[in-house]
Amino acid sequence: MSAGRTESSIPTVASAVTPAGVVEAGAIDAVSAAQSCDTIRIGSRTLATRYFLAPLAGYTHMAFRRVIRECGGVGLATTDLVQAAHLVSGTRWARELVQTHPDDRPLSVQIYGGQIKHLVAAAKWLDDRGYEAVDINMGCPMAKITGQGGGARLMCDTDGACGLVGRVVAAVKIPVTVKMRLGWDREQITAPALAREFELLGVAAITIHGRTRQQGFRGTVLVDGIRSVVEAVERIPVVGNGDVRTVADAWRMREATGCAAVAIGRGALLDPWIFRRLKLASARGAGLHSASADETPFTPSPQEQLRFLARHFELMVEQHGEFPSCRMFRKFAAWYGARLGIPEDLEDRLRRFESVVAFEQIVADIRARHGERHDPRPTADIKVPNGPVEHW
Ligand SMILES: Cc1cc2nc3c(=O)[nH]c(=O)nc-3n(C[C@H](O)[C@H](O)[C@H](O)COP(=O)(O)O)c2cc1C
Repeated sequence: MSAGRTESSIPTVASAVTPAGVVEAGAIDAVSAAQSCDTIRIGSRTLATRYFLAPLAGYTHMAFRRVIRECGGVGLATTDLVQAAHLVSGTRWARELVQTHPDDRPLSVQIYGGQIKHLVAAAKWLDDRGYEAVDINMGCPMAKITGQGGGARLMCDTDGACGLVGRVVAAVKIPVTVKMRLGWDREQITAPALAREFELLGVAAITIHGRTRQQGFRGTVLVDGIRSVVEAVERIPVVGNGDVRTVADAWRMREATGCAAVAIGRGALLDPWIFRRLKLASARGAGLHSASADETPFTPSPQEQLRFLARHFELMVEQHGEFPSCRMFRKFAAWYGARLGIPEDLEDRLRRFESVVAFEQIVADIRARHGERHDPRPTADIKVPNGPVEHW
């Protein structure tokens, strides 16, 4: 852990207090990956790989983070965005979002809010409890977040954003990172200037989603925009993000932008083994050439695919109990169906099941009919907002 802390006060599933002396999973990874020379430093931390799980609110809860880490290759994971004021006041949901586990390392907690005092207090709250890093959200496009002055709205006021980031950095000992978009719209591409200022203020890394707020999730990622952020900073790592679905995509992101690391969100839901593939490809010395990355060095066996599905749900039930987990798990069905060889009718049942027993029956049915799927395309139906961005 950074800042010479123990993990003794990080809330875990079992209780609000983690047993002291637990082994840090990330530390073990870092040692083995150090041998493959693909590690990266962010602040005081050495991360085992350059491929990070991007936060996806509603998806990247602890259960998903743990199960995807078990697949291998994740360099860093970040929690869903947590409202800073709620974290400090102790709202049940905010506290649930920051629950973690010794296997859930290395971890950053992402906070958002429009008021400096809330962000500073939340960062201190995390620092005091032994969390390893804090990430400030400056990218969320949703009106309910930007309307409070948080998320991407912060990028519109350069002085305000710098004042806020400077105060958070000064308040804590742990590394502070920022995740942002390119800017509010094409006329206001503020990310490069902000990244440089943030670096001077002591921010440890920047993650940049290569879209503007105006784009929402539409259109293509502007790789030139990411590159301009990379070129704006002097030494801190820039993490490129957006639309990476395959090893070749990740390689292209690094080649085209010069970014030091890549954050993957939806691509990890579609292929939970993407980090493992990346780690294996790096270890093979495939080099940073997208053309050499097409060959997939790893295919999970049907047993492994089913184990992944069952394990994700098991970890969810461990944290949230039976019925909430059924509800929360259903939306993963459309993402997992294609990759896990789930026949369409069983994917449909996964979208509606209501008990552990029903889940186990579906898994047994998938086992019997694994791969009997007509459409190889994922039916992912993620709830990204539709329509003009003004209406979000
Ligand atoms: C459903 C959903 C939830 C998201 N939640 C967050 C979040 O909590 N914090 C954040 O910084 N970005 C969030 N994002 C943005 C992603 O982290 C990422 O920047 C974006 O999806 C582009 O990367 P990808 O193509 O790899 O998914 C979210 C995106 C989606 C689709």
